[in-house]
Amino acid sequence: MYLGLDLGTSGLKGIVIDAGQKVVAEAQAPLTVSRAHPGWSEQNPADWLAAAETVFDALSAQTTPGDVRAVGLSGQMHGATLLDARDEVLRPCMLWNDTRAHEQAAAMDDDADYRAITGNIVFPGFTAPKVAWVRDNEPEVFERISRVLLPKDYLRLWLTGGYHSDKSDAAGTSWLDTGKRVWSDRLLARTGLSRVNMPALVDGPDVTGKLRAGIVDRWGFSDDCVVAGGGGDNAASAIGVGVTGAGEAFVSLGTSGVLFAACDAYAPAPETAVHTFCHALPRTWHQMGVILSATDALNWYAGLVGADAADLTGELDDLQAPGRTLFTPYLGGERTPHNDAAVRGALVGLEHASGRQAVTRAVLEGVVHAVRDCRDALAATGTQFERLLAVGGGAKSDYWLKALATSLGVAIDVPVAGDFGGAFGAARLAMMAAGDLDADGLSQPPIARSFEPDAALADAFTEAHTRFRTAYQQTRTL
Ligand code: XUL
Repeated sequence: MYLGLDLGTSGLKGIVIDAGQKVVAEAQAPLTVSRAHPGWSEQNPADWLAAAETVFDALSAQTTPGDVRAVGLSGQMHGATLLDARDEVLRPCMLWNDTRAHEQAAAMDDDADYRAITGNIVFPGFTAPKVAWVRDNEPEVFERISRVLLPKDYLRLWLTGGYHSDKSDAAGTSWLDTGKRVWSDRLLARTGLSRVNMPALVDGPDVTGKLRAGIVDRWGFSDDCVVAGGGGDNAASAIGVGVTGAGEAFVSLGTSGVLFAACDAYAPAPETAVHTFCHALPRTWHQMGVILSATDALNWYAGLVGADAADLTGELDDLQAPGRTLFTPYLGGERTPHNDAAVRGALVGLEHASGRQAVTRAVLEGVVHAVRDCRDALAATGTQFERLLAVGGGAKSDYWLKALATSLGVAIDVPVAGDFGGAFGAARLAMMAAGDLDADGLSQPPIARSFEPDAALADAFTEAHTRFRTAYQQTRTL
């Protein structure tokens, strides 16, 4: 058996799969985000470990840990977990959607070396600008930094006692030479760091070590159980749904929204605000457009009206043309295509008839329009796809997927196990690390249901997308 752990923003998920890749156990532990100031988004790494303990307890009640041959890791990307020389956490982790480092990011992005070496814009949520923010604002913390780890790699330190990261996750730091797949000494030095401060790099299916004795003894794992490199959550999700070759793509409606396409070569296009990162398999890359709030936007609205998000989407039946009410989901700024940390969301075109369902539709449509912006950014690089798989919690809403299929003009397939996301990919990478699966075995999953574009509504979605683009331009400086 093989265990996959996905350290998400809203919770840590663990699954165990058998040799036939069937899920035999699953468990989750919730996590919360602290937002002390506008643009800030933090979690305490101690909470991740507590969540992992809860998940291991629950999984051991459903299955026998001693039968697990390998563990794989997936996790929210870009977070800066800062450790001192004794591996003590120096401050709360600044997460992927923390945009306080926008000035540091802009200064780095003005230095042409960053785009040339990393293939990407230096976005405020990436790791390097956040460490530069700590240097500028918390010098006493900065001076004590001995290691910088990404969130799932802090979990790995707890599991194995070793410092490793995989290249798909490392590509989101702004310190990786993404084409060569190695740390850039030059870029690390510009943040006052060197390779000594960084974890060793591996590919997703590589073995990074064995479980340490404390973990083996506590849950009864085998002392031969290995830990795979794993992947950033998007690359790991791609492994889970078999998106590994050019022309294959998926959309993730999680806390963030991601339109992810596998590539056959390294072809960066930072000017489009598309992310070009290493994939989790050796010598492969991918592109993605990332929006900061997908289910996060729906959950915000659900909180506002005191409803459950699933009830809100459940109240909608047949797909309708977008109404006058328009929502821009920029609750914490936006990455693709705007790279704008300052913009905030807007709800415009409210009228007497704007009831709860009309606004729910507007919120879902706003995310659809933002994903369409990502599609346009990917298309500008020449990346095309004919169908999309849908993953993440938002893929439970048929209305959302019908709207997305109609706006993008492509059919959308929902895998049977749509919400296993990164955890299933992590379990597959664990299986590869154990030598029990090769890349040819990364098949696409069975499909539970599919949504075709509604041709009669296509023009209405295009017209609403044009208004959405105008709304960004007209509200960004307000
Ligand atoms: C990707 C990104 C998000 C997080 C969410 O660049 O920032 O998708 O990985 O977990």
